[in-house]
Amino acid sequence: MKTHSILGGMTPQKFLRDYWHKKPLLIRQAIPGFQPILSRDDLCALAAKDDVESRLITHFKGKWQMQSGPAQALPSFDQKGWTMLVQGVNLHDDAADALLQQFRFIPDARLDDLMISYATDGGGVGPHFDSYDVFLLQAHGRRRWSISAQQDLSLQEGMPLKILKNFQTEEEYVLEPGDMLYLPPHYAHDGIAEGECMTYSIGFRAPSYQELGEAFLQFMADTIDLPGRYADPELAVSRRPAEIGNAMLEQVAFELDKVRFTSEDVAVFLGEYLSEPKPNVFFDRSARPLNLTRFIASAQKRGIKLSRKTRMLYKGKHIFINGESFTANASDRKLLAALADDRGLEGAQLTTASEDMKEALHLWYTDGWLVLGR
Ligand code: SIN
Ligand code: CO
Repeated sequence: MKTHSILGGMTPQKFLRDYWHKKPLLIRQAIPGFQPILSRDDLCALAAKDDVESRLITHFKGKWQMQSGPAQALPSFDQKGWTMLVQGVNLHDDAADALLQQFRFIPDARLDDLMISYATDGGGVGPHFDSYDVFLLQAHGRRRWSISAQQDLSLQEGMPLKILKNFQTEEEYVLEPGDMLYLPPHYAHDGIAEGECMTYSIGFRAPSYQELGEAFLQFMADTIDLPGRYADPELAVSRRPAEIGNAMLEQVAFELDKVRFTSEDVAVFLGEYLSEPKPNVFFDRSARPLNLTRFIASAQKRGIKLSRKTRMLYKGKHIFINGESFTANASDRKLLAALADDRGLEGAQLTTASEDMKEALHLWYTDGWLVLGR
């Protein structure tokens, strides 16, 4: 079985079997000689943008405070005890995107984003737990991670962020650039910068069933087909006019019980839901896009590549891209699956694409969902 360098030479199979959701794993020099992708200044510039999600967390004089971005003014870099977290850096930077892609031994449906934190000495987000798995890759400087398998996950009340009431360190590791720590969901941890540092979090997404259920019902609202209208040809004289009668209740219950869904409905829902970009994602439309003929000619020469921001998934004949779904014929399906898996296609691969598929690709190109060139 192929080993994966980012897992310290472990096979992804072994990682998933022995660690994923189960226990922490420290990988020294997961990326030997790792150099940060963005400088401190680059990261601050990103955090100042409107379409970038960021938070500033300060722990000054024992008091936790949190402010959502875009950051107006940051504390001085000489001041200890603050950190800035920038979410979704992979959406804005090619190298960050490429780093996230190294974790695609886990499906796209589960991968979330690359978050980068910058902290001054002593900075961190406090002892807490996350509901998701996370890989914490040290990018710059040193960070001391204290971790604990404790069952007591009660939180301090009235805090602007999740801080554990009774954090009991069980193990401690100091991470240097290139070192990486994997933590399963609900594993208590506290990372404190030793001097200025930057940490990259490779985060996952695990929607709650409540969230999925609510979204599924909305999806079903557009999908259900219940013909007919309530009627009561046998209506009896009402003695209590404000009361809902049993006959009405039973008839409506009987009709609503006809609402059915299949695993195909679930697949389409899931694909649309999981491929929906986050609300703050805006695609860069090309100012003067090529027309269809020129686009295809160029794509057949240069190939195409999905935008970093595009989420593309598939299941059987269903193709999902940025929250939309459609079905494709068997030959297009193969190509579109390759586009989703490889996040691009070589020019030569496009020769067999149907006219419909070419038109779809052109539309995606115009909307900035994909670009020319591999
Ligand atoms: C950080 O990078 O400071 C926070 C990462 C985490 O604890 O989840
Ligand atoms: Co955490």
